[in-house]
Amino acid sequence: MVIYLVALLVLTIIILFMLNFEYYRHKLGVSTSHSSDSMRQAILDEILDSAPQNTKLKIVDPGCGSGDLVLKIAKSIPDATVVGLELSPIPFWQAVLKKKISGQKNTIFLRENFFEYDFSDAQVIVTFLPIPVLHKLAPKLKSDMKSGALLLSNAFQMPEDWISYKQEMVQPILKRYLYCYKA
Ligand SMILES: C[S@@+](CC[C@H](N)C(=O)[O-])C[C@H]1O[C@@H](n2cnc3c(N)ncnc32)[C@H](O)[C@@H]1O
Repeated sequence: MVIYLVALLVLTIIILFMLNFEYYRHKLGVSTSHSSDSMRQAILDEILDSAPQNTKLKIVDPGCGSGDLVLKIAKSIPDATVVGLELSPIPFWQAVLKKKISGQKNTIFLRENFFEYDFSDAQVIVTFLPIPVLHKLAPKLKSDMKSGALLLSNAFQMPEDWISYKQEMVQPILKRYLYCYKA
């Protein structure tokens, strides 16, 4: 009897997870995937090379998923504050849990819609968003970002009025680039 109850509980949890991901994928037009290890490293290296110097950095990941990129950057740049924005509840709570387990204090996870977020005090923004969503967000980023702020986009290019200062091939097999822009 107990074994059936446990199996039912596990099955219910799996179904709830799947429903959550499917519902938010449909609603937001983005699935919760995450940047590869090599892409995370390339993003971190680019921040260390090109972000404004002599200032306490604020780095924002709009659509942070379960927070791995935020936590990696925060661990490597302890003086920075790294903010992850995520609307989908399960990845959001996974990120919060990972923060608690890792004890990474310089991270902030907010369950917020990034279209309503003010990016004006961020020196670095990192994105992994498909073209329709990224291009919808682009005008807001353009008006919010202050001169010298960086935008690093995994895999997807900004609209044509954004000129990249660098395009780095990070995953040759997938032909996946990191696109780097400066306001
Ligand atoms: C592809 S994942 C990227 C994860 C992470 N940035 C990385 O590079 O590993 C994109 C995330 O954006 C979230 N998202 C999509 N639209 C959003 C919105 N309007 N506000 C907040 N989060 C959103 C999705 O739920 C999804 O988890």
